[in-house]
Amino acid sequence: MTTRPRVVITRKIPAACEEEAGRLFDAVINRDDTPLSTAELQDALRQADGLLPTVTDKVTAEVLSAEPLRARIIANFGVGFNNIDVNTAGARGLTVTNTPDVLTDDTADIAVTLLLTVARRAVEGDRHVRNRQWTGWRPTHMLGAKVSGKTLGLIGFGRIARAVARRAHHGFGMRVIFHDPFPPRPEDARALGAEPRDNIEAVLREADFVSLHCPATPETRHLIDSARLGQMQRHAFLINTARGDVVDEAALVAALKAGTIAGAGLDVFEKEPAVTPDLLAMENVVLLPHLGSATMETRVAMGMRAIENLKLFFAGQPVRDRVV
Ligand code: DGY
Repeated sequence: MTTRPRVVITRKIPAACEEEAGRLFDAVINRDDTPLSTAELQDALRQADGLLPTVTDKVTAEVLSAEPLRARIIANFGVGFNNIDVNTAGARGLTVTNTPDVLTDDTADIAVTLLLTVARRAVEGDRHVRNRQWTGWRPTHMLGAKVSGKTLGLIGFGRIARAVARRAHHGFGMRVIFHDPFPPRPEDARALGAEPRDNIEAVLREADFVSLHCPATPETRHLIDSARLGQMQRHAFLINTARGDVVDEAALVAALKAGTIAGAGLDVFEKEPAVTPDLLAMENVVLLPHLGSATMETRVAMGMRAIENLKLFFAGQPVRDRVV
């Protein structure tokens, strides 16, 4: 009998994925569902052939310094992989994979949910009703901002941004503009009704809604800072479903307080799960707990995709989603 590769799975994953992992591997699952410490992640790399972490596990250079290193692959449960020091992982001979494609639609749906919710004051309205403050319909009550026909500015134009563009343009008749340092073919942008702009500032100046869709890298840290928030229109809203550190959260709070922008819809935060306390008190801000990919179907698909990468790797075949 051949021994099955040992894989440490750092959090609970959907039951169907746990079953599949158990069928294929000697799977060690962290059923406590609390984050593993640096020492525990190091133990995993010493004791298992593969690690299946999630986007909240910080696989740092320190974690990767574990000796002797038994693991040969890190199959991230997530499309973003800024939680992993991929340069160090590569230098240590580890393969790193992610889970693209399967969460594109759900994340685009959450971006549109935030856009509509913050513009139409839906969460604020829900609180209003629940708090028994509602005294009845009146022409000037809780007026929001119209969405249909407005201009949506996308920062980054990858898979998720394009799915947002499709929904906004075809669903809400929005005009879509974008900036991406690696622009698509003009015909692909045209099919989504999207027009390129030469730089971020041009998008910020023109858009009624700005939605962020760039990866978290050292270059994109605080991409949206106080100067760039100052370029946005006073009636404009900022939507972030990408990564928290793309926005300087302190600058965002200052801009919201000063009325530099009208509001924000945030699914991600700079020091997640901590949220700047000032944001919690603002009615013109909608806050979600990193729900972009949080549907049963998609979380199962993400888990299965990570497992598929592990399976291919241990079978000696090329992995599907190699990052490093
Ligand atoms: C990802 O996969 O990167 C998301 O942020 C979590 O689904």
